[in-house]
Amino acid sequence: GARVLIDTYGRVATDLRVSLTDRCNLRCTYCMPEEGLQWLAKPDLLTDDEIVRLIDIAVTRLGITEVRFTGGEPLLRPGLVGIVERVAALASRPQTSLTTNGIGLSRTATALKAAGLDRVNVSLDTLRPDVFKTLTRRDRHKDVIAGLEAARDAGLTPVKVNTVLMPGLNADEAPDLLAWAVAHDYELRFIEQMPLDAQHGWKREGMVTAGDILASLRTRFELSEEGADERGSAPAERWLVDGGPHRVGVIASVTRPFCAACDRTRLTADGQIRTCLFATEETDLRAALRSDAPDEEIARIWRLAMWGKKAGSGLDDPSFLQPERPMSAIGG
Ligand code: GTP
Ligand code: 5AD
Ligand code: SF4
Repeated sequence: GARVLIDTYGRVATDLRVSLTDRCNLRCTYCMPEEGLQWLAKPDLLTDDEIVRLIDIAVTRLGITEVRFTGGEPLLRPGLVGIVERVAALASRPQTSLTTNGIGLSRTATALKAAGLDRVNVSLDTLRPDVFKTLTRRDRHKDVIAGLEAARDAGLTPVKVNTVLMPGLNADEAPDLLAWAVAHDYELRFIEQMPLDAQHGWKREGMVTAGDILASLRTRFELSEEGADERGSAPAERWLVDGGPHRVGVIASVTRPFCAACDRTRLTADGQIRTCLFATEETDLRAALRSDAPDEEIARIWRLAMWGKKAGSGLDDPSFLQPERPMSAIGG
């Protein structure tokens, strides 16, 4: 077959998101319950070798040019630095990035950079340690700040910060967060809360929308689209802040979906292909891997899986059903 991942709507996936673990050391209220979740069992997880092999197949036979490592929390995966190193050494080297909560990043940023990682996105929802503790149920605000600084100092740039605003908790902090991000040279992006939490507690009415966020930012900043980059297939719409050069992004998956330009395919930590965050079906690559299928057979299964990719998230359908797998096990 053609050496690309193309779906029935003509979209070509060039961006692979790889979840390395479903575990996390935070318990963000919009994601996980206090007691955590039933974690995947070790034998079900792809090994480091299996992950590297799949990424190799994706870049050599499927046209993948960008690989993002996610979780749960990917820094909890013991083999992370080794995986990055082997992926960065592939003949068709993809761009590599990591999405992390930042805890422990101050200790690994230099090693990750040396291994060949290009950049990181760090989740941080508040500048207030007490609010952080309420939101994440862990007292680790300082660690995240230290992780961010280490990432920037190690050259894992541009460092992006992902923020979810929650009414009554941090929704009033948008302008403060932007002033802080500009001062520290981080690119801030606000993310609309999506119905992917393990507790199924999401409500459209309880969500801070892109419209709310922009109105709040405009009380203190001038935001212009003039000269800003094209969105392309990036989930974030970006605005220049006070004429630039800094930008702020909004990832409005709910109120301004960007599915028509989607260029993504996903691999879960237990070796399932997902064609979409909101997909209700998965394709098992692990079984093929473990039955000694050759590379081309695995590539064929992956191409076929993409034919099942839906036009969009289905969020606006009255019959919308949240996928069984929660955000933390999908990889965001
Ligand atoms: P950049 O390339 O650095 O812009 O990364 P990104 O924004 O694509 O990735 P990141 O892991 O930082 O994700 C930021 C937010 O975008 C998270 O809340 C993700 O769940 C969300 N996101 C990532 N990919 C998709 C997608 O395909 N669809 C939707 N709806 N949201 C996505
Ligand atoms: N909706 C939107 N974003 C979420 N994240 C986690 N759960 C949700 C959700 N239900 C965010 C994290 C992180 C990014 C990868 O996804 O806060 O910043
Ligand atoms: Fe693509 Fe699905 Fe995300 Fe839409 S929700 S942008 S189709 S991955």
